[in-house]
Amino acid sequence: MNDNLHQLRCFGCGARVTRGEARPDFRCSECGDLFEVEYPGWSQPKGNDRPNAGALKWLWRERRCSSEALDHSGVWRFREMLPILDSFGNAVTLSEGNTPLYHLTRASKALGIDQLYAKHQGMNPTGSFKDTGMTAAMSVAKERGFEWVACASTGNTSAAMAAYAARAGLRSLVVIPDGKIAWGKLSQAMDYGAVTCTVKTDFDGCLKLLIQVVKEARIYLLNSVNPYRLEGQKTPAFEIAEAFDWNVPDHLIVPGGNLANSSALGKGFRELHQLGLVARMPRISVIQAEGANPLVRSFAKDHGATLEPVEAHTRATAIRIGNPASWRKAARVIQETGGWCLDVNEAEIAIAKAELGAEGLGCEPASAVTLAGLKKLRAQGAVEPGETVVLLLTGHTLKDADYTIDFHRGTLLKNEETAGREAELAGLQRNAQAVDATTHAVLAAMKDKVG
Ligand code: F0G
Repeated sequence: MNDNLHQLRCFGCGARVTRGEARPDFRCSECGDLFEVEYPGWSQPKGNDRPNAGALKWLWRERRCSSEALDHSGVWRFREMLPILDSFGNAVTLSEGNTPLYHLTRASKALGIDQLYAKHQGMNPTGSFKDTGMTAAMSVAKERGFEWVACASTGNTSAAMAAYAARAGLRSLVVIPDGKIAWGKLSQAMDYGAVTCTVKTDFDGCLKLLIQVVKEARIYLLNSVNPYRLEGQKTPAFEIAEAFDWNVPDHLIVPGGNLANSSALGKGFRELHQLGLVARMPRISVIQAEGANPLVRSFAKDHGATLEPVEAHTRATAIRIGNPASWRKAARVIQETGGWCLDVNEAEIAIAKAELGAEGLGCEPASAVTLAGLKKLRAQGAVEPGETVVLLLTGHTLKDADYTIDFHRGTLLKNEETAGREAELAGLQRNAQAVDATTHAVLAAMKDKVG
């Protein structure tokens, strides 16, 4: 069966190439911008290739009860929305997606927003949202006969890539910034058998280096410049829309690093709208760390028209990125949906992460920027109490246990970062206590913490 109905369109100049013509770095040879996957049949109102909205909703629900491996994937369950393979039989899946949508009870009370939810993408097989993109692009790599795949990473992409490559029987190369990724993520790349190179540079330097490498050897680049990654990463938009019975929430808040995920989710909602599955797109806002905020600066300067790279610094290592590849795509999503782009500081990130933890929803620091950003937006009056808001949590709390332990021990932040927030922090810190081996000592430890 030939399921393949797509072409690649340059985001910058609109040039179209067939899939075989894309360069190894996935940059347009005319203007140097990135490509997007496009499905020409969808723009014809009555064309045979345009999926039928009602039939799709029914089919996707039916697949939840199916025993087929492909239907167990929250990405491939929606396969009519990503016809990128010659045969879906080539899909490499670890049953990704179908992640939980939690109501945030404490945060909704604190912020006065009843309908506040977290879509937890950290509940994917390798613990981050990257799995949804990786199943799509790895399947393409396998179908096209590549033996090697590669990525530069702040950790999660490498963990996901290594796992999916192992499942596909391909070899994988990981290039990461020395000393700047969380151990949990590095350990995953090793466990799944990647060749891992640590380089004395930052993420942006790693990506630059790897792009040179893939121009010299037949290696399939699996960074998010690869447009097929975004096809998988758009599927949480479908899950969210489905969870709200195809009435999209008012506002989706996403962390921003290399800015592919916000781009992908925007594409997902745009396509649902284009095909008539939903009546509108949600507002999509992007939150960056204050020390890694090139898109925030860009919006402040000229509303996302140009971007100056920055030297990135943040303890939220996943989003420590100063020169984001997909910034133009993300800027378009923010502009077209009326979203905001703002940054949050290190203390705000740490506090938001602890608050989510206290709800039983641990996540990694990069994910917590979403709650920190919402708190700011709410304080500015930009979000109304009656709105339905979804925070996208991108990674599992165990990815970066050092960060969490340092927070609770009170060693994470410097004095100048905590100034004025000491009491708030103390109320959230739950360091382990060394106690005597007596019931009295254990009960006393509990008493201290009651109330
Ligand atoms: N949250 C987490 C946990 C991440 O790992 C990343 C990116 C982001 C948010 C930002 O997503 O880049 O699409 O804007 N991590 C990449 C990596 C860069 O290599 O794992 P983005």
